[in-house]
Formats: sequence, structure tokens, C-alpha cells
Amino acid sequence: MLLLALETSCDETSAAVLRVPEPIAKTGKVASNCPPTLTAAPEVLSNVVLSQDEVHAPYGGVVPELASRQHIRSITAIVGEALSRAGVGIAEIDLYAVTQGPGLIGSLLVGLSFAKGLAYYHKKPLLGVDHLEAHLEACFLENPAIAHPALGLLVSGGHTALYLMDEPLSYKLLGRTRDDAAGEALDKIAKFLGLGYPGGPVIEKLAKNGDPKAFPFAVPRTKDRSLDFSFSGLKTGALKLIRENGLTKDDPRLADFLASFEEIVARALVDQVRAAADQVQPRSLILCGGVARNTRLRTRFQDYARRAGLDAYVPSPKLCTDNAAMVGAAALKRFARCPTLSTDLDLDAFAR
Ligand code: KG4
Ligand code: ZN
Repeated sequence: MLLLALETSCDETSAAVLRVPEPIAKTGKVASNCPPTLTAAPEVLSNVVLSQDEVHAPYGGVVPELASRQHIRSITAIVGEALSRAGVGIAEIDLYAVTQGPGLIGSLLVGLSFAKGLAYYHKKPLLGVDHLEAHLEACFLENPAIAHPALGLLVSGGHTALYLMDEPLSYKLLGRTRDDAAGEALDKIAKFLGLGYPGGPVIEKLAKNGDPKAFPFAVPRTKDRSLDFSFSGLKTGALKLIRENGLTKDDPRLADFLASFEEIVARALVDQVRAAADQVQPRSLILCGGVARNTRLRTRFQDYARRAGLDAYVPSPKLCTDNAAMVGAAALKRFARCPTLSTDLDLDAFAR
């Protein structure tokens, strides 16, 4: 069984072709016979991602109207490329999946409308996928046997949240950011210093040889000791340090400053993972979302997991940032649980 997945929720146009082992493919034809989970990970035949970084870089952040227009320009070629890299013809696709939300509404509608058109024309089922669920499921693509309950930290440009996954396909929100997402804080500091967009990778590169203890940052805490996050205080603190020290992008202390900022963001994130793990006693830990590409964060997360004696999983970098393979992974898990054979043309996008 072959699935074509599309992802256009923000500023990446992505298409992926996934293949599922035969036994699961057969259950897809018998709606009443719903197996509880996928028994094997799907095989990713292709996962093509076209980033719009160059389009948005001059503005220091994503411009929604430009993003949706760019998706329209790219999507036909990206789907064609995903099919050709997979060595598959469009008529062979058995199932379609697309990100429904959350994300930029105009961008989401491009992928959704395109997927609806394909599914309708080829008379195949179409599944709408939650973008956050897809980020979490990216981890299971490479590690299908992650033990439940799993505690998942999702850190991206738009979201920072902790989820408890008691069983497959169950996502209980334990805490989330009350203001900025972690990636947003990195992006805003990079923008302020004129370092470029997206900020996370630029900061990581420039901070590489910096001293993470050089600048004094305090770990942010929410007053009520909940599992929520807050990054706006940290961002304001960083802006204050930049002004007080007269830091510019050419300053020799820049690497130290960025390493200190990156370190505090990583520590704030891992501290909340620790607090949540103490409460819910998971068997495994998951780190996902675009910011999970960050080496310092990956290291701090793995260090904590080792000390706590928990198995920790982080997707390979390409599966952390937005991509269609993770959308396909989430769709296949739901489809295996409950195959739908219809195409819901009323499927709507949602921004939040
Ligand atoms: O998951 P994602 O691709 O899109 C959203 O759903 O938001 O995440 C994008 C975010 C951006 O804020 C970007 O700066 C951050 O991920 N990011 C990184 C790295 N690569 C991407 N942050 C830190 N270090 C990186 N290497
Ligand atoms: Zn994302």
C-alpha cells in the first residue's frame, strides 16, 4: 500500500511517499477489521522538502501571504519530485494525507486543496492530519517500538509543548508556552541582531565555539510551578544584555552571548521535561520539532535521560523540521487503527 503525504502548514512545501507492509494494506480494505496499531514502521520512499527561507529572509520572519503564494508555485513540482524519487506513478497511490492545521491558514489551504483534488480525481481516501501529532509521530518512523507511556517535548517555531502519550495515538497536553515558542525566541533574537532567518540554525552555527557560561541568564520559571513554559522573559533579558553590552553582529563576544542564550533555552526546556517526568513517570522520552535539530538541546536532553535511566528518542534532523514524511506517519497510524475509505471533501483547514 502506498501513501502520498503533503505538508504546507508554514514555510516548507513538502511531499512524501510512504509504503506500508502488505498485512496492514489489506486491513485498509476491511473497514470493520481495525487493528490496534501499526506493527511495523512504514518505509519512507521519498521525502522532498522545499524551504522558503530565501523568500522570507529579507523580512526576518515568515510573511504569510508570500508563503501561500510560494506554496502554489512549488507544490506541483514537489509532488512530482516525491513520486519520481519514489519510483511511483500517481495512479498507484492508495491513500492521501495532508496537514489540516495548526498553521498559516492560506498555506494550509494550498496543500489541502491540492490533496483533495488528487484524492477526488483518483477516487482514493484522504486523511487530514494534525501538524503537532505529526511532529510527535516523526519519532516513531525511525523507532516504531518506543515504549508507552512516552513523554514528548515538541519544540518548534510556533509551539513549545509537553505531551503524555499513554498509548499509541493518545496525546495529553501537560504544559505549553504561555507566550513565545522556544524557536520563536531564537528567531527574534537573531532578527534583532541582524543575523538572518531562521534564527535557530544561525545561532547554533555562530555559538559553536562560544562559552555558554559567559553571560548571566536565569532559568525562567512560571510562578505556579505548572508544566507550562515562558520564553518572553528570557527574550527580554537577552535584549537587555545586548543593549547593556552594546553587542552587535560583529562583536567578538557574540559567540559567547549566543552560546549562553542557547544554553539557557535548552536548560529551560529540559528542566520542564524533568519536572513532567517526575510527575508522570514515563517509560520513554521523545524530543521533536524544528528546534530539536539543535545539538546543544539534543545533548542536554540525552544527558538528562541517561541520568534518569529513561530511553530517549530524537528524530534525525531532517525529520525534526517540517516535512511530509511525518504527516504520512501520523496518517498511517490512524488509518491502521480505523480505515476510512471515503474522501471527505468537506475537510477544512484550521489555524489553531
Ligand atoms: O518545526 P519547524 O520546522 O516549524 C514549525 O512548525 O514551527 O520549526 C522551525 C523552528 C524555527 O524557529 C527554527 O529557528 C528552529 O525550528 N530551528 C532550530 C534549528 N533548526 C531549526 N533551532 C535551533 N537549532 C537548530 N539547528
Ligand atoms: Zn512544525
